Parts: sequence; structure tokens; C-alpha cells
Amino acid sequence: MSRILVTGATGNAARHLPGKLLAAGHSVRVLVHRTPGTELDRRIETVAGDLTDAGSLPAALDGIDQVFLVTVGDGAAAFAKAAAAHPELRVLLLSSKAVVNTEFAGFDNPIYRKHLLAEQQLAELGVPLATLRPGGLASNALRWAPGIREHSRVQALFPELAAPLLDPDDLAAVAALILNAGVDAHRGATYTLTGPEVVTVADQVEILSAVLGRPLELVRLTEEEALTALARTQPPEFVRDYIPVQRRYLATTPAVHGTVAELLGRPARTFREWAYANAFRFG
Ligand SMILES: NC(=O)c1ccc[n+]([C@@H]2O[C@H](COP(=O)([O-])OP(=O)(O)OC[C@H]3O[C@@H](n4cnc5c(N)ncnc54)[C@H](OP(=O)(O)O)[C@@H]3O)[C@@H](O)[C@H]2O)c1
Repeated sequence: MSRILVTGATGNAARHLPGKLLAAGHSVRVLVHRTPGTELDRRIETVAGDLTDAGSLPAALDGIDQVFLVTVGDGAAAFAKAAAAHPELRVLLLSSKAVVNTEFAGFDNPIYRKHLLAEQQLAELGVPLATLRPGGLASNALRWAPGIREHSRVQALFPELAAPLLDPDDLAAVAALILNAGVDAHRGATYTLTGPEVVTVADQVEILSAVLGRPLELVRLTEEEALTALARTQPPEFVRDYIPVQRRYLATTPAVHGTVAELLGRPARTFREWAYANAFRFG
């Protein structure tokens, strides 16, 4: 059994992981940033820290064998600096399919940049490393939850935008499989992860409507409206690149990867399955 530090565990991508590691008998510590982690199982240890501040990380890394590392800010420079004092560490990095998406070529999009930088910084650190590159997550639909709860309405710039959305529970199952075996057993491996089928935004709204048992209105935003909404939560570089990158996505046929099924020995979960499991979050 291993002593594992999970970062990003209060977020959408990694929230299912600590429970799976605990169930497998590992000793689990979660790095707590702004969200207090009060909803976590009380057998999970919490330690405060900021992945952009190397000086805040020694207590979190103390006594740890393996780390599940999310990428925040501008890469993983602070983590790499702190981890240099722990050559015994093994790291499973949560990167993104964005690093190999040609749709991003020529853009300075911060999502693409932070993951590329993190992969490079950890390779330079030289610790045993395995990397997950998921595409878009089904849980991104939670951004529509307030509009669905309050107005039974979803607003989108490109309702025809299509992606093979990945259930974050499958992402956690793959991460747990690797950490259970030990990162050494997957050293140097890079896994591109997607869901089993391509769904458009319009498909997702139709599925959510069927699962929730009530009609949902899908409203197409103008580019100006979409950019105004995005600017409330995203940095200017992201907003600047957003529409050109989305247009490139529209022009491509997104690929489904079979990696989740190959690793887990069962099919990856569909967006519909995710929607049934998470219907309560849409009210
Ligand atoms: N969503 C997708 O479709 C998708 C696809 C591929 C890859 N990814 C990548 O997966 C990662 C996590 O995404 P997500 O969807 O889970 O995001 P999220 O829901 O916003 O969660 C981010 C997590 O990281 C923590 N965090 C943020 N800044 C931190 C810092 N400075 N120090 C320590 N912890 C910090 C947050 O804790 P606090 O809330 O306490 O700050 C939270 O637990 C990101 O790197 C994202 O680019 C996401």
C-alpha cells in the first residue's frame, strides 16, 4: 500500500479519486487550497498548500510515495521545485488532450500552455512519471446547472460543437488503477482518454432533458454575448483565442480513444450514464 497525495480533489476532474484510493487500502492525503475539503471522508488527511507556491508544499509532500498532480496556473514549476527534495516521489500527472490537439496550433491559449509546460517541467525533474491526457469532461455540463435550475435553459455559442466527453469517474478509475499498480509499472506512459461516443452540445441538452424529465430550451448565443460571458471567468488570452479555437474544433471530427475500456476492462461510461448519476446536481 502506498501513501498518496491527491491534488485538485475538490475539483471536477479529481473528486472521485480519494474515495477509490481509500477503498483500495492506501493512506490518502488531500492538498487543500481554497475549498476546505470538509465533505471528504474523515479517514482522508488534509494538508493546506498552494501548487503555485513551492514554499507551501513541503508539509504536503512529507512521507508521500505517489502524487496525483493537477496542473494549475502556469504549469508545474512550483511543484517541481518542491519535489526536487523528494527523489523517492512518483507522479501521475493530470495533463490534457489539448497538448496534442492541432486545433491549438498557432495559439497562445493558457490551457494548452499550462499543460505543455507542466509536462516539460516534470520531464526535466526526472521523477518516475505517468501522464493522463483527458479530453473534455462530462462534468463541464455542470456550468449549465444554474441556468437549468432557474430557467430550464442552456445558452451556447455553438450547439453543434461535438466531443467524446469523458466521465470524471472513469478518469478517477484509470488514475486509481495506475496508482494501485504503482506509477513505476506505468513509467513513461501517456494515456489519452475520452468517452465512448461523440456528443454535441445539442445532444447533451436533449439527454439532460430526458434524464430530468422536463423540456430544456437551448439558446444560441451571438459571438459577442459568448465573449462577454466568458470574460467574467477567464483570462483575456483565453477569451481572445476562444472563438478561433472553437471554429477549428467545429471543422474537425473528434476521435474516440479506446484507452479507458482497454485499461479498465469494461466500456467507458456514456454522457447519458453520467447525466443519470448527476441529475440531482441540476435540480
Ligand atoms: N474540465 C475538463 O474538461 C478538463 C479536461 C482535461 C484536463 N483538465 C484539467 O484538469 C485539471 C482540473 O480541472 P477541473 O475541471 O477539475 O477544475 P476545477 O473543477 O476548477 O478544480 C480545480 C482543482 O484544483 C485546485 N486548485 C486550483 N488552484 C490551486 C492551487 N493554486 N493550488 C492547489 N490547488 C489548486 C482547486 O482547489 P480550490 O477550489 O480550493 O482552489 C480544485 O480542487 C485542470 O488542469 C484542467 O485543465 C480538465
